[in-house]
Amino acid sequence: MSVAVQRPPSSLAGAFYDDEDGGVIKNVDWGTATPINSIHEVEIVDHDFGTAITKRGTKRKSLQAAAEEIPKHQSILQLRELRQRFAVVESHPVPEIRNPEELVVKIQAIGLNPVDWKSVDFAGVVVKAPEDNSDVEIGDIILCPSTDYRDLRKAAYQQYAIASSFNVCKLPKHISTSQGASLGVAYVAATLALGVCLGLQLPSIGDLEGPDILELVRRTPLGRIPRDVVPECIAIDDKERPSSGDWIVIWGGSSTSALFLSQIARLAGLKVILVLDCAKHGNRVQDTSGCICIDSHDSERASRVIRGIAGDDLRYGIDTAGKDTAASLAKTLKQEKGGRSHLVGLAALPKERLDGVVYHNVPVKLFHEVPDIGRAIMAWLEQALISQTLELPRVDEVAGGLGGINAALDQMRVGKVSGRRLVVPLS
Ligand SMILES: NC(=O)c1ccc[n+]([C@@H]2O[C@H](COP(=O)([O-])OP(=O)(O)OC[C@H]3O[C@@H](n4cnc5c(N)ncnc54)[C@H](OP(=O)(O)O)[C@@H]3O)[C@@H](O)[C@H]2O)c1
Repeated sequence: MSVAVQRPPSSLAGAFYDDEDGGVIKNVDWGTATPINSIHEVEIVDHDFGTAITKRGTKRKSLQAAAEEIPKHQSILQLRELRQRFAVVESHPVPEIRNPEELVVKIQAIGLNPVDWKSVDFAGVVVKAPEDNSDVEIGDIILCPSTDYRDLRKAAYQQYAIASSFNVCKLPKHISTSQGASLGVAYVAATLALGVCLGLQLPSIGDLEGPDILELVRRTPLGRIPRDVVPECIAIDDKERPSSGDWIVIWGGSSTSALFLSQIARLAGLKVILVLDCAKHGNRVQDTSGCICIDSHDSERASRVIRGIAGDDLRYGIDTAGKDTAASLAKTLKQEKGGRSHLVGLAALPKERLDGVVYHNVPVKLFHEVPDIGRAIMAWLEQALISQTLELPRVDEVAGGLGGINAALDQMRVGKVSGRRLVVPLS
């Protein structure tokens, strides 16, 4: 995947980090430096026994009870050589937790994402609870977007995986594990694209105020933000953030990410145009999305139709398809000296850059490397699932367990999967 990276002016970058200082921030006061990872022990007074116990202590007991159920070895999928098929390896060690925020999940379903993207989804049952102060308990059924693909302990292609408490979302009873495994990565990409790249505050659900993720980013000490995503975190000014009533175009509007992008944007009051293959997806999407659908077949014509509908002040676009469609979308946005439009590319960005357009990549690392951000994103999802606020992707289950994944990925490579997610249940 070729992705262009936006960099801050070197003078600015120099002000954030001092290489000799191991990434310590200098000369910058970026809002309140809120400590993250802080663990609060909650005191629970047990009146029956007249004793005080801590919540953490309680968790430890149930943790010991569940430890016996976790085997030492498991089956996993392993890629022995690049461009080869995965092999099932038995008797591979079950990964172990390394810090109090981590938990062990027995995976029950694996959700397959596009092959150009490394993150995979899984859902399953918690068999070892975290020792932090989260409310995740043994026996909870959770989903986890496995975005931290560099840490193999957290990989999805295995029977048991490690997850961080701030990266999981409990599934309400009305959501199956297969459905739960179908949505995480696309949802996280959507919230970060809208919430950080464009600075849109997530909408409220009932009493839960939607998180302002950009504000959370700004309150995080700079040294805790992964260095390569810092430019993305400062790419939009406050005065450029979208307001209710603004238009946004999502090109590649039939994708799973577009499903979440469009719903969140609409709930936040934006007016949404989806560009997609109307012959293939029009009926399904037009019926349920409440968005304006434009056919993607002729991109120049699509551009003109979009301008005809949204007018000349169109400043927000997100592409989920690739660099050619992202280039068409950039040309559709307002290009004006001084006023800036914003284009986010989930799949890729074009090489050619237009004046007046800011090009954004999704800063996925914020989700698994900054706990407050992961937690806020998962808390919003949990409420959305409980209240059935979001339409979820259509799911096709694929048989065969871990051994069935190669064939499922082949189907995706040859373009046989469209408008739905493949999920592989594990017994
Ligand atoms: N940056 C990130 O953080 C991040 C995170 C997740 C995903 N991604 C990437 O974002 C992309 C979308 O992921 P996803 O999971 O949402 O995909 P998906 O659910 O598998 O859907 C892909 C969709 O894109 C549509 N499409 C392809 N080419 C198109 C074109 N020229 N014009 C209009 N639509 C087109 C396809 O439509 P048809 O069915 O009509 O072919 C398909 O429905 C992938 O490249 C993925 O790797 C990035």
